[in-house]
Amino acid sequence: MRLLVTGGAGFIGANFVHATVRERPDVEVTVIDALTYAGSRESLAPVADRIRLVAGDITDAELVDRLVAEADAVVHFAAETHVDNALADPAPFVHSNVVGTFTVLEAVRRHGVRLHHVSTDEVYGDLPLDSPQRFTERTPYNPSSPYSATKAGADMLVRAWVRSYGVRATISNCSNNYGPYQHVEKFIPRQITNVLTGRRPKLYGSGANVRDWIHVDDHNRAVWRILTDGRIGRTYLIGADGERSNLSVLRTILRLMGRDPDDFDHVADRAGHDLRYAIDPSALRDELGWRPCHTDFEAGLRATIEWYRENESWWRPLKDAVEARYQERGQ
Ligand code: NAD
Ligand code: TYD
Repeated sequence: MRLLVTGGAGFIGANFVHATVRERPDVEVTVIDALTYAGSRESLAPVADRIRLVAGDITDAELVDRLVAEADAVVHFAAETHVDNALADPAPFVHSNVVGTFTVLEAVRRHGVRLHHVSTDEVYGDLPLDSPQRFTERTPYNPSSPYSATKAGADMLVRAWVRSYGVRATISNCSNNYGPYQHVEKFIPRQITNVLTGRRPKLYGSGANVRDWIHVDDHNRAVWRILTDGRIGRTYLIGADGERSNLSVLRTILRLMGRDPDDFDHVADRAGHDLRYAIDPSALRDELGWRPCHTDFEAGLRATIEWYRENESWWRPLKDAVEARYQERGQ
């Protein structure tokens, strides 16, 4: 199989490429990635001689057309992904997430190529705290931020291209990922690297907000299950029953790193901050038999902390600029 992976130099995409090269030697991988601030060649360095990396923008219709024509399937990860950046400047989110997905859809339509579109549970908006309610495939879209609104727009384009043009696409909406190669602007790596650089971790608001955590490898195994056996036109929700408040995640990180659990700062809350995300993954489990392997969150977190300790050269050059930007925003 010839597989085109968009955004393969980012966090989830790079882990997807690593796992694919490791576990599926019959797959030829081409990555297209604009190598924005969030993507790096270093994330693909361990597999550099086993893949083709094309530096390019997914809104470049000519380039995307050429690469899609050479592929049997496309897995579409490329996007602008950080909510705080979206609040500060939404323009790149409309460009990459909406126009980019449109460009990919037009190419797969022209060439009849199978597409899996990777999306987020944030398209569903948020849930009340302490309620048994979880997101399902039938939950109405209700995005809160420019990030989730542009991802919702992209999902809607995919659905329309399936219905109107018969494009062979599936969609997955996954909960919050953690693991190696995640940019230090995101919650878990930011706190780990704050401790490692002698800074105090930063918690937005009271830390009561709940996220549903999944290890990136479990997400990517689900993507492969869907790509292989998913029903065309179908949306699958991916989650691993990992709901935790930000405060409890932060305290666990501090404990695992040998710090006092109260050794952190409360900082300005995020505008429009979604309260709680929670996924009901039963359709994926029942239909495709997928189960998460990383069911011990603390063990996954310990391994992730270890990865950041051992790979300082990967994240250190980014850290000061990220923290300077947060400081400007009072966060
Ligand atoms: P990331 O920000 O780490 O990586 C995104 C990658 O896309 C980067 O390598 C970047 O260079 C590339 N990119 C951005 N705009 C591009 C463009 N116009 N052309 C080509 N490449 C471009 O993001 P991530 O966390 O790896 O997320 C990957 C996908 O998974 C996104 O679609 C995101 O919405 C989705 N998702 C993420 C999470 C999460 O917790 N991180 C959860 C659910 C879904
Ligand atoms: P983030 O990793 O940005 O993911 P998302 O907002 O897409 O879920 O943030 C996860 C949660 O952590 C979110 O509720 C915001 C919060 N947060 C902090 O408390 N402190 C931080 O420094 C960051 C980056 C996020």
